[in-house]
Amino acid sequence: MESSPSPASPEKHQRRPRYRGTHPRKFHEKYKEHDPLKHPDLVQKVLESGKTPAGTHRPIMVNEILEILDPQPGQTAVDATLGYGGHTSQILPRLLPGGRLLAIDTDPVELPKTEARLRSLIDLPPEALLVCHSNFAALPRLLAAQGITGADLILADLGCSSMQFDDPARGFSYKLAGPLDLRMNPNKGKPASEWLGSLTAEKLVDILRDNADEPQADLLAPAIVNAHARQPIATTTQLSRVIMDALHRNSSDDEKVDTVRRVFQALRIEINAEYGVLDLFLRYLPDCLNEGGRVAILTFHSGEDRRVKHAFQNGLREGRYTAIAEEVQRPTRDEIHANPRASSAKLRWARK
Ligand SMILES: C[S@@+](CC[C@H](N)C(=O)[O-])C[C@H]1O[C@@H](n2cnc3c(N)ncnc32)[C@H](O)[C@@H]1O
Repeated sequence: MESSPSPASPEKHQRRPRYRGTHPRKFHEKYKEHDPLKHPDLVQKVLESGKTPAGTHRPIMVNEILEILDPQPGQTAVDATLGYGGHTSQILPRLLPGGRLLAIDTDPVELPKTEARLRSLIDLPPEALLVCHSNFAALPRLLAAQGITGADLILADLGCSSMQFDDPARGFSYKLAGPLDLRMNPNKGKPASEWLGSLTAEKLVDILRDNADEPQADLLAPAIVNAHARQPIATTTQLSRVIMDALHRNSSDDEKVDTVRRVFQALRIEINAEYGVLDLFLRYLPDCLNEGGRVAILTFHSGEDRRVKHAFQNGLREGRYTAIAEEVQRPTRDEIHANPRASSAKLRWARK
């Protein structure tokens, strides 16, 4: 029987599989990008080309967020969507000495990698970073479990990370062939490929309209449900094909790609119950903040931004917040040029 490797019997070195040509194309072949600390020159080159290195995420509107949250030594912070830790790596050092940051993420695949990277990057007392694998909808319970009565600053950077989008094995992207999964927490619920089997066309019409304002929902929903009944849609590529085939022949290629993107977005929002958990988080937020505490939320589509805007406006009217952003903030042109993934970002804040 094979035994698992131990320090005394190190794992046998395995050669990296060779890729064709001079440049790696597939996600798993980009082994240097996956190890940014060991290959900083290559990572810098990828960043300068406006791309996101494989297995990483570029934090968005960092300066604007630091200005709003204004982290100070000794304060308590929450990063409700830790991701790659891009924002946390800027906030956490400013809380020291004496401060702490509760970092939450629902993704069990990336969370341990991010925690290890942050602890190796920043010189921290262990208790300054509290990492929690959870949905942010449980924020009051997570704070109570750590004995935290209120936070001075809270950040939520909604949606998926680039690590999730870019890894074909996670099944998030219509651009990459992989299993149709779409779950941020693959330990919970069913992958989209199985879940599709439980949908009626009527329900799918509502999902496409509510989650992505899809104008062709009436056409696409029966096409997807019927195709799945004939032969289960198991991969991202199969779903893209079904959508493309259902669209009118006169649709341009750009229109078709836009439609595929919206359908994937709508299904992802539903699979992860994104609106339901965001509504809960927004409802609990004021009670989770200390007096004078601030929250900043980055959104990436109108369904999210609408919820944040209304929750902050209602909170101000009801006296649960003392001030809120009058206008939404957008990334600068330079940031969008350097990181096109920032283009749809909107930032709002509120103060208790
Ligand atoms: C845009 S990324 C955050 C990136 C991060 N700010 C950075 O700079 O690296 C969003 C992250 O939030 C997580 N997430 C999304 N919805 C969540 C929820 N309801 N509860 C906890 N984590 C969530 C995702 O798994 C993903 O890792």
